[in-house]
Amino acid sequence: MTSPVPPALRSTPRASDAAEIRRIIAATQFFRAAEVDIAVELVQEAIDKGAAKSGYHFLFDDTLSGGLRGYACYGPIDGTESSWDFYWIAVDPAAQGKGIGQRLLVASEHDAAAHGARRFWVETSTLALYEPTRRFYHRAGYTDAAALADFYAPGDGKLILFKELGQEPASRELPL
Ligand SMILES: CC(C)(COP(=O)(O)OP(=O)(O)OC[C@H]1O[C@@H](n2cnc3c(N)ncnc32)[C@H](O)[C@@H]1OP(=O)(O)O)[C@@H](O)C(=O)NCCC(=O)NCCS
Repeated sequence: MTSPVPPALRSTPRASDAAEIRRIIAATQFFRAAEVDIAVELVQEAIDKGAAKSGYHFLFDDTLSGGLRGYACYGPIDGTESSWDFYWIAVDPAAQGKGIGQRLLVASEHDAAAHGARRFWVETSTLALYEPTRRFYHRAGYTDAAALADFYAPGDGKLILFKELGQEPASRELPL
């Protein structure tokens, strides 16, 4: 028997996403309470105003039963010509390590490139806890650009990574 085909990624936020994102981000235990609030505020703004007016792009990975397994949030950096920021990515801990994060990341890169992005920028922590996250980005072709010591807190620095977009082989399938 073949497995059911997962739903296509969704780009339009819906009312239930705010609570689902709060649940997923809190469950990862990777983010401070204030960071969880910021992530929820961003999606709430997009729900209220519509994603186009909010200035943020979203991709949501839904389960077959309509729940949320993961999401990504990204958008153009004001004042730059073609640099985009990859603000958030989180996958439900129960569904991590199955390729959902890579699917979201690659689809976000394609969407950003289609809107004129040339460089995708990512920030993460230098803490040991984030080693799998750093591996996730390195395996996806991201390069370390800078590390800012003690940025988030004493002993917790910020690592900035980037990737040049538009260099994937033409045959690469769009995961959307
Ligand atoms: C980072 C994250 C989005 C990756 O999503 P994912 O669906 O688990 O990742 P994928 O299955 O597509 O890719 C797996 C790869 O990511 C890395 N990885 C990161 N976190 C992982 C996890 N919890 N379990 C398994 N692999 C993980 C590994 O390098 C793995 O590659 P490998 O199997 O060859 O070792 C997800 O683990 C997550 O939500 N982590 C907590 C939140 C976070 O760190 N967000 C990014 C903040 S900047």
